Amino acid sequence: MSTEHANHDGSGRNSFIYVVAALAALNGLLFGFDTGVISGAMLYIRETFELATVLGFAIDPSLIEGIIVSGAMIGAIVGAAFGGRLADRLGRRRLILVGAVIFFVGSLIMAVAPNVEVLIVGRIVDGVGVGFASVVGPLYLSEISPPKIRGSLVSLNQLTITSGILIAYLVNYAFSNGGEWRWMLGLGMVPAAVLFAGMVFMPESPRWLYEQGREADAREVLARTRSENQVAEELGEIKETIRSESGTLRDLFQSWVRPMLIVGVGLALFQQVTGINTVMYYAPTILESTGFQDTASLLATVGIGVVNVVMTVVAVLLIDRTGRRPLLLAGLGGMTVMLGILGAVFFLPGLSGGLGWLATGSLMLYVAFFAIGLGPVFWLMISEIYPMEIRGTAMGVVTVLNWAGNLLVSLTFLRLVDVFGQSGTFWLYGVLTLLALVFCYQLVPETKGRSLEEIEDDLREKALVGDAERGDAVSSGSDD
Ligand code: BGC
Repeated sequence: MSTEHANHDGSGRNSFIYVVAALAALNGLLFGFDTGVISGAMLYIRETFELATVLGFAIDPSLIEGIIVSGAMIGAIVGAAFGGRLADRLGRRRLILVGAVIFFVGSLIMAVAPNVEVLIVGRIVDGVGVGFASVVGPLYLSEISPPKIRGSLVSLNQLTITSGILIAYLVNYAFSNGGEWRWMLGLGMVPAAVLFAGMVFMPESPRWLYEQGREADAREVLARTRSENQVAEELGEIKETIRSESGTLRDLFQSWVRPMLIVGVGLALFQQVTGINTVMYYAPTILESTGFQDTASLLATVGIGVVNVVMTVVAVLLIDRTGRRPLLLAGLGGMTVMLGILGAVFFLPGLSGGLGWLATGSLMLYVAFFAIGLGPVFWLMISEIYPMEIRGTAMGVVTVLNWAGNLLVSLTFLRLVDVFGQSGTFWLYGVLTLLALVFCYQLVPETKGRSLEEIEDDLREKALVGDAERGDAVSSGSDD
């Protein structure tokens, strides 16, 4: 079996791993496409359906639009809530297949929707698929990757998220003349079908297999994706670490896991409340207020999409060399400065000429700094820092919070602008970004180059040392 794919590149890897990773990363494409496509489609959905009633109830049109847009996020919250546990039960690969089918069905429902109600159902179904994909994509990639290139391979998922957003912007642009929103939304079926067809032939995560008591299968997968000398070593580490624990939600609150629960929750929320999706969803609106015309602002939005992709490529190339922390901290620092400048520019009266460009430039740089740090590092970190027994569950929990944060920001952004103005809103995100910087500096560990098992061992050891120190403190306190 192992010889069939024994195509080593001399660095201890096996090139089959790149095929596996590229296919699994298509999970991110579903996520990104879904994020980027709706703003464009919405412009024309308004023209097809009279947005006045839902199920016979008269509802404010803007609220109906809000429900159509956020329906996918609500679906994603549900998908992520169940996705983690399901990934532990069904296996990572099988859940990817299920997610792809659900996403496919959701896109189909939207493409043929005869009325608003069906369209909303389609959005929610689609979102459930995205919710599954957002948990299991990074999880699978992390468990199948050799430690030395794990950062890059898991971050391919963020690269496909950003590519999905960019493709959606371009699709919106391409179909905007005829206002063909059914095509825009229906095209989501394509990546879903490719992901499904590809994953049928891909192996299951070796770590999950081992945990299921399928050691021979786990060894076989490692043999297909590693060089020979690495197989024994990695299997040994897996054996030592995976103990039979139940992996329930309660295990997440055990004292030795708690520090990483805090890190995951913090990163999940900070990734959203620092405002990235105000740009992903509302870029044309923001750009118009800097003095751009309609078409120019659509084109500049595509420019933002390109910056997002290009800087994510840079992150993919750097993340296993520099490590996660330097990228995260530098990215957050840059985002803070850019938000400060953006707020200042909008504070001045009359945005035109040079000032309009300054605003656009800082918006692009803000996205660039997100793309190099918080964007990829969040998804990577949460796939690395949890012990095997609860990895799926833990990732599910923090991913739910990430989607909830996403929903919160997208629902409140326009209202915040009404109340605090654009300057106040960007400064608010700026202050939150500064808090994120302090949080990450203090609490986020470096995981570069270490196997998932080493990371887990470290966590256990730190907890033991902490307990011992606390014990000492108590006993020396009682001596007094
Ligand atoms: C975030 C998404 C965001 C995207 C932008 C992802 O890491 O989770 O909410 O839309 O990055 O590139």
